[in-house]
Amino acid sequence: MPSIPLTRAERDQLLEAAKQALERAYAPYSHFHVGAAVLTDQGQIFTGCNVENASYGLTICAERSAIFTAVQKTEGRLALRAVAVANRAQVPCSPCGACRQVIAEFGRDVAVIYHGANGFQESTIADLLPESFRLS
Ligand code: THU
Repeated sequence: MPSIPLTRAERDQLLEAAKQALERAYAPYSHFHVGAAVLTDQGQIFTGCNVENASYGLTICAERSAIFTAVQKTEGRLALRAVAVANRAQVPCSPCGACRQVIAEFGRDVAVIYHGANGFQESTIADLLPESFRLS
């Protein structure tokens, strides 16, 4: 079922939450501070930030951090309406492939807002990750 389009106010609120979340990033290796905020179909917002590790491969991105919190805090099955991502450097930064697959798990029409070449832009996860892997 297509999700309800984001209002301007919802988009602004989600981006603001992502910007606030990036202040909590733990990124002593890359110095690339990222925050993410997700909006669920129940109207709740959850945030996350990237958390790096001396063993680099253990790093988790802001998007997955936010989504895993949303799963933990949501009663019943999580469905996402939108994900917003912000970075302190304000450079183009769309979700990585792993995060795209995780976003796709929780909705086909999730709006994804991220810093593009000319400020923030919006796509759907279906556009960002066509033919995503599914088991059902
Ligand atoms: N990172 C994110 O948190 N989200 C993205 O969309 C891109 C990359 C993080 C992972 C790592 O801590 C740092 O940015 C540099 O790759």
